[in-house]
Amino acid sequence: MKKKLKVAVIFNEANPELYIKKPKEFPSGLTHVGKNTNFVPYFEYDNLTPIEEYELMASRLNQEGVEAYVLNIKDDIDVLLKNIKKHKPDVVFNFVEVYKDNARLEMNMVGLLELLGIPYTGAPPMALANCQSKVLTKRLLNAVGILTPQFIVFRHKLTQYKHKLQFPLIIKPAFEDASAGIENESIVMDNKELKDRINYVLKYFDQPALVEEFIEGRELNVAVMGDKDSVVLPISEIDFSEMPEHLHNIVSYQAKWDPHNVAYHKTIPICPAVLTKRIEEKVHSIAIKAFKTMGCRDYARVDMRLSKDKKIYVLEVNPNPDLTEGAGFMRSAEAAGYSYTTTLKKIINYAWKRRKNVRNFVK
Ligand SMILES: Nc1ncnc2c1ncn2[C@@H]1O[C@H](COP(=O)(O)OP(=O)(O)O)[C@@H](O)[C@H]1O
Ligand SMILES: [Mg+2]
Repeated sequence: MKKKLKVAVIFNEANPELYIKKPKEFPSGLTHVGKNTNFVPYFEYDNLTPIEEYELMASRLNQEGVEAYVLNIKDDIDVLLKNIKKHKPDVVFNFVEVYKDNARLEMNMVGLLELLGIPYTGAPPMALANCQSKVLTKRLLNAVGILTPQFIVFRHKLTQYKHKLQFPLIIKPAFEDASAGIENESIVMDNKELKDRINYVLKYFDQPALVEEFIEGRELNVAVMGDKDSVVLPISEIDFSEMPEHLHNIVSYQAKWDPHNVAYHKTIPICPAVLTKRIEEKVHSIAIKAFKTMGCRDYARVDMRLSKDKKIYVLEVNPNPDLTEGAGFMRSAEAAGYSYTTTLKKIINYAWKRRKNVRNFVK
């Protein structure tokens, strides 16, 4: 980067006071995040709250020649507008995922940045909209020849849910992410269990239930980075070999978030994954194709399953995945030889390069 860029690291934590360390009061088995609750998954094992993470990120960037500052918009668009008019950042590092508890407004936030003409990191509104719906994602990917598990969607409660799918099946809320609503009970073996779980999703998540064929096999997380010339970073695999017998090999809500649960400790990421050259090449080309088809930009993670008969299925595409140091996307970036701050600066630079395509309207 030539000049010292001013970067606003923007996020939305409306209730920072919720980040108090109270693991004992945490209701066990609670699986609902998203629009229906105001609970924040946070555990005593976490060293930093998300807000502290952003502050640390900004200070690390400051040590590396970027003039970074954090801004919590606290569910108030005026806070954002005033700050941007005052500080006139060159680039916004966008971490806003919800507005007033509504994840569907994620795309509107970057829409606003586009209207203001400020370069921002990550996916544009269309990609955020496309990827938010797991069903739309599948339809778009299928249209370009990418395999996804066979599926059917149920939007309303019925006395019988008719389908032609092969058991076992997995039932997911159609618009959630971060494994919300994905538990051992999400996998069903017969129509009775299927009905119970569909009713559960319709009732507690208040959104359609996506029913998919369950793909046994290996799970791959594929990080893609770049704008026009995107590249695939070393592939990460979830090792399920130590999962106890009574649990399905999935990255459930508990596996992702609950350190008190065995699944959290037995879903072990391995990066780089050991794959044959042929599979690796196939995974690469599917990841890039999925990234482009969904309209992603800068950084994304494509979740895949490699079935026992060596077919590659895309489960979902995650635009703007978590950038916590040492985890997920960053694990792959580090395996590629990019340090944490190098990766952040690369992402900032993709956004900065796009300034030529936008006219800045901030007065
Ligand atoms: N069709 C499927 N077959 C096998 N496992 C699945 C399937 N769908 C989801 N899973 C498991 O559930 C996890 C979460 O599902 P995913 O579609 O990636 O949703 P999320 O947005 O919550 O991450 C996956 O990482 C995988 O372990
Ligand atoms: Mg996923």
